Amino acid sequence: MSAQYAVHGEVAVISLDNPPVNGLGLSTRLAIADGVQKALSDPAVNAIVLTGQGRAFSGGADIREFGTPKATQEPHLSSVISLIENCTKPVVAAVHSIAMGGGLELALGCHYRVAAPGADIALPEVKLGILPGAGGTQRLPRVLGVEPALNMIVSGEPVKSEKLAALPGQKLFDKMAASAASLLDEAIAFARGISAIRPLPRVRDLPCSHPQGDAYFQFARNMIAGVSKNYPAPLKCLEAVQAATTNKFDDGMRVEREGFLSLVTTPESKALRHMFFAQRAASKIDDVPADTPKREIKTVAVIGAGTMGGGISMNFLNAGIPVRILETKQEALDKGLATIQKNYQAQVKKGKLKEEVFQQRMSLLTPTLSYEDIKDVDLVIEAVFEEIGVKELVFKKLDEVMRPGAILASNTSTLDVNAIAHFTKRPQDVVGMHFFSPANVMKLLEVVRGAATAKDVMATVMDVAKRIKKTAVVSGVCDGFIGNRMIEQYVRQAGFLIEEGCTPQQVDKAIEKFGFAMGPFRMGDLAGNDIGWAIRKRRYLEKPHMKYSKIADLLCEQGRYGQKVGKGWYDYLDGKRDAIPNKDVEAMIVKYRADAGITARKISDEEIVQRLVFSMVNEAAHILEEGIAARASDIDIVYTTGYGFPVYRGGPMLYADQFGLFNVVQAMNRFAQNPYDDGQFWQPAPLLARLVADGKSFN
Ligand code: NAI
Repeated sequence: MSAQYAVHGEVAVISLDNPPVNGLGLSTRLAIADGVQKALSDPAVNAIVLTGQGRAFSGGADIREFGTPKATQEPHLSSVISLIENCTKPVVAAVHSIAMGGGLELALGCHYRVAAPGADIALPEVKLGILPGAGGTQRLPRVLGVEPALNMIVSGEPVKSEKLAALPGQKLFDKMAASAASLLDEAIAFARGISAIRPLPRVRDLPCSHPQGDAYFQFARNMIAGVSKNYPAPLKCLEAVQAATTNKFDDGMRVEREGFLSLVTTPESKALRHMFFAQRAASKIDDVPADTPKREIKTVAVIGAGTMGGGISMNFLNAGIPVRILETKQEALDKGLATIQKNYQAQVKKGKLKEEVFQQRMSLLTPTLSYEDIKDVDLVIEAVFEEIGVKELVFKKLDEVMRPGAILASNTSTLDVNAIAHFTKRPQDVVGMHFFSPANVMKLLEVVRGAATAKDVMATVMDVAKRIKKTAVVSGVCDGFIGNRMIEQYVRQAGFLIEEGCTPQQVDKAIEKFGFAMGPFRMGDLAGNDIGWAIRKRRYLEKPHMKYSKIADLLCEQGRYGQKVGKGWYDYLDGKRDAIPNKDVEAMIVKYRADAGITARKISDEEIVQRLVFSMVNEAAHILEEGIAARASDIDIVYTTGYGFPVYRGGPMLYADQFGLFNVVQAMNRFAQNPYDDGQFWQPAPLLARLVADGKSFN
């Protein structure tokens, strides 16, 4: 049974007991129903308190049951709520810490609610592309008022209990307890006080209206449509809340139910639920159990105060972890520090950061030119120039000075982490921590596991990632790791597409319409076209058989490195980020085609999107087969958090699954026939071919 039952005098207490957050799985639902029956049949009991043990009142549906028969087995949550609402003895919810989703809906089914301050109250279903399906859209507006309820339902964001309790006329909370510690006693006392009152108040019987109903909902509809264009759920939430104001309760419930059922099968909802599970899966490493002892990380050093070193440091400062930052020259150190300061000051100016918090964070930062000053830290992250010789010098020095057991991490984006590990006599302590630029903003962190990296180092770094609010994905060692290895194929296809007839803006527009934050040419201009150029020069030597479009090289030969010089594939005027097409670049592309004897053809947006996305999918299948990524969903996380792949499509792997792997391979076979493309590359990866033959998918 996932709830405890106890009797305190005339009050029965049902305490949900399903760690970690009292998810409303089948056994919990049964235990609540059982507790209510017990209390009803005990003549000594006059009232019931429903509360949660441990860290939450209830976090809602039990995600471990998603997709299993238990999730749909009676009693459904709605049945439990009806049982409580129709109970002939008063039921008081005692809410603390977390009441979210089904947890909040459960509390709304109770006759009274007492809350502790500091509790997070939310209906977050919209974040999974659905809507609250157990009466949340009908009951919340009745207790909070239409506008605050709609805001909560459409945003899915938590609001603190005390803030809701302060809303004028609110009926969500009948009483605020002094603290979480005194909540249960206060709720029991409250239950005693109201035990004789009849009729029992039910949220469903409260009126629900808005004084300017039509006008308000029209306004809200326009607002929501503007910001949620790729997602159907927010508008369905609005329809359900509007129904609460125009229909009888049971009719409103029917509108909610229909909305729920229509959303749960949409590709957007499937993608969002996929991402939800993918996030959780990504933090697990198969051969590193969750109880692996972790090394203590109290202090951090960052080597190199350049673009990445500064951003990396800010992550730790933001989490309250002291950072020592090391450079070889005072000038570089001063410059790095000034950049960090400037970044924080910009946040203060925008009102996003308090001045005293900024000062506090800066006080945790210690600049130094000496390794003596960093030798006792727990984790050191190297972010110096991307040259193996410089990395060798740094890691040899670290090996010499760092205390035993310190973790030595490299932020390299292309170099061999195993080679770096062997510059030291402690390769077990060496790991890759590949941050993305700007490192203080981007959520993704690829944790690169070397051949010798110790399990406790992996466990520790995954934990550190959580502390600094990064989404960590484990990658094996290979050129480009997961993300950059795939993006190289995508960018190569973009090159072929302009050779064959597209303009850069046509390619960018097509993939941006598909949902990417930025097309490949705008991305190149932002990152610096010289970076890709340097990599290609290396590739020409390493892989002479590999086909590349040379147009990007011509662009770089003209110094068109991108935004940093005001010109790349596009022009950027007065330091602005607006990409303006350039006639000379177009002429250069036309001349290139003429010289190469290519007759330009019209290429559809569909072909552009498929070649860009499926090139990544094919490379990803190789990555999976080689064990560089542990699961397809990890790759989806990398792409949605680090590369601007549209979340509502669930990442490249889920997109391919939904497109149908058979159809993906058919398209690849077509692309392989194109004489201007790389036919060899388009041979389906063996894993992909096997999945198609077996009628399976990646996820
Ligand atoms: P950067 O050139 O902006 O900064 C490097 C800094 O390291 C400079 O301030 C330099 O003075 C300092 N430095 C050089 N040798 C040093 C030494 N021996 N000891 C101490 N400091 C030294 O370079 P950036 O862009 O910050 O890149 C750093 C590392 O991060 C590279 O390995 C790069 O591949 C990687 N990376 C870069 C990304 C980017 O978008 N810029 C993204 C992900 C990784």
